[in-house]
Amino acid sequence: MPPRAEPWSFEGRVMVVTGAAQGVGEATARLMAARGAAGLALLDRNRAGIEALAEELGRAGTPCEPIPVELERVEECFAAIDRAAARFGTLSGLVNAAALTDRGTIDNTTVELFDRLIAVDARAPFFLIQRILPHLRRAGGGTIVNLLSLTIWSGPAYLAAYVAAKGALAAITRNVAAAVIKDRVRVNGLNLGWTVTPAERRVQTEVHGRPPDWPEIEGARQPMGRLLTPEDAARAICFLASDESALMTGAIVDFDQRVVGVTPPSLRFEPDPSGSSGQSRSLS
Ligand SMILES: NC(=O)c1ccc[n+]([C@@H]2O[C@H](COP(=O)([O-])OP(=O)(O)OC[C@H]3O[C@@H](n4cnc5c(N)ncnc54)[C@H](O)[C@@H]3O)[C@@H](O)[C@H]2O)c1
Repeated sequence: MPPRAEPWSFEGRVMVVTGAAQGVGEATARLMAARGAAGLALLDRNRAGIEALAEELGRAGTPCEPIPVELERVEECFAAIDRAAARFGTLSGLVNAAALTDRGTIDNTTVELFDRLIAVDARAPFFLIQRILPHLRRAGGGTIVNLLSLTIWSGPAYLAAYVAAKGALAAITRNVAAAVIKDRVRVNGLNLGWTVTPAERRVQTEVHGRPPDWPEIEGARQPMGRLLTPEDAARAICFLASDESALMTGAIVDFDQRVVGVTPPSLRFEPDPSGSSGQSRSLS
C-alpha cells in the first residue's frame, strides 16, 4: 500500500469494520469516514443499525456496504468478506470490534456459553483475518486491529469465558502479526479499558443494577476522573489502522488510565512523608 501524505488519512483505503452498528465499531467507522476512507464494509448482526449508518455516511460521501452477519457462523464470516471484496474490489484492512460480553464465572459458565464466546470473540476474528489476507496481500499490505480488553491480564471473576476468548485473540494477534510481516500486513491489538458504550450502559443497569447515571458516578472514581468514550477508542484504533503507527506490528497496547501490576492504593502502606516514623514499608 502506498503511504499517505497525511499519515492519519484513510484516503484510498477500504476498511472492514465489525460491530459497526453501535459503540466502538460505529465510532470507528464514523472516524474513518471523516478521515477520507474510500469505502467501508459495515458488519454486524444488527441489520437496521448498519443500514442506517451506511445511509448516513453514504449521503455524506463515503461509499458503504452494510453486511448483516452472524459472526458465530464461520461460513457467514467468509461470505461477509467475499461480499465486501465484490463491492469494493480492493480491501485495505479490518477492525474486529464486535464481541459478546456475557457473564459467567469459572464455577457457573456452561459449555454452551463458553463455546459461544469463543466463537464470536476469537474464532470469528481468526477466520475473518484468514479470509481477508489474500486481499491485503494483493493490495501490497494492510492493517488489522483486534479489540481486546484490559481484562486479559486477569479481569473480574464474572468474565471468565470472555477473558479466555480475548486472551486467545491477543495470542492470535501476535502469532499472525509475525506470520504476515513480509506481506506488509500489520496486526495490532488494543486492550481497551472501561468504555461507556450502549452495550455497557445496558449491562451495568440491567445486570449489575447500577443507577442510570453510573458513568458519571464511576467516572468520578477513576484516576483521571472519567471513563473512556467510544470516540477515545476510535482514535486509538485509527492510529493503529493508519500510517500513523508506521511499522508497529504485533503490539498489544494497554489503553486505560491504570498501570497493570501496580498495587492499588487500598492495599498500599504509604510511609509518613515527613519520614518521622522511621518505619517505611511498602507492599508494592
Ligand atoms: N465497553 C467496554 O467497556 C469495553 C472494554 C474493553 C473491551 N471492549 C471491547 O471493545 C469492543 C467494542 O465494545 P462495545 O462496548 O462497543 O460493544 P457493543 O456491544 O456496544 O457493540 C458490539 C457490536 O457487535 C455486534 N455483535 C455482537 N455479537 C455479534 C455477533 N455474534 N455477530 C454479529 N455482530 C455481533 C453487536 O450487535 C454490536 O453492534 C468489543 O470487542 C469489546 O469486547 C469494550
